[in-house]
Amino acid sequence: MRLNSNKEDVRLGILISGRGSNMIALADATREDRIPKSQIAVVISDQPDAAGLVRAKECGLQTLVIERFGRRREEHDREIVSALKAHEVDLVCLAGYMRLLSPYFVQAYRNRILNIHPSLLPCFPGLDAQRQALAHGVKWSGCTVHFVDETLDGGPIITQRVVPVLDDDTEETLSTRILEQEHVLYAEAVALVVSGKCEVVGRHVLRKN
Ligand code: GRF
Repeated sequence: MRLNSNKEDVRLGILISGRGSNMIALADATREDRIPKSQIAVVISDQPDAAGLVRAKECGLQTLVIERFGRRREEHDREIVSALKAHEVDLVCLAGYMRLLSPYFVQAYRNRILNIHPSLLPCFPGLDAQRQALAHGVKWSGCTVHFVDETLDGGPIITQRVVPVLDDDTEETLSTRILEQEHVLYAEAVALVVSGKCEVVGRHVLRKN
């Protein structure tokens, strides 16, 4: 997959709604060149009081609030897509972004939107994945980075990491153990995509050498 053929760096746009720890992990990885030839063009939050906005500014990242409150999904998404285009974003990374994307958004960035989810998809999509895993009694869970399509957490899977579930886990302890792996996994997945080392074929993401 070629994200851009003539620009120096692949330009990432990160969407957040909250804490933003995955956004920081991606910012660190671009700075340390673990994600090669890329830069964060803009961080967009749909929540004006997202803690991640403060952290993004502290890192010197360009931020934007495009508030969702009271807006129809597609109208809100059209404004976000315009902002992404204005910042010449090549690849969109959802990092704790809590609103489903409209078909308009998915189509505008087809196979160029990534999401990270705190379970081994297709198990436990949607909200509270760690709580769902504990309630089900699974012995292993983990995290998944996938391309975003029109379905909820259902797009082609790029990579996954497995994390054990312990007998005395609470939602908090399991979430913390998974989050540590999310931070490593998301950077690895973005690196794969920006360096053109994977290809989407139907539901499958194939590695290229
Ligand atoms: C992460 O667990 C991510 O997998 C999920 O939302 C959480 C966001 O955390 N989609 P953060 O805002 O990146 O700290």
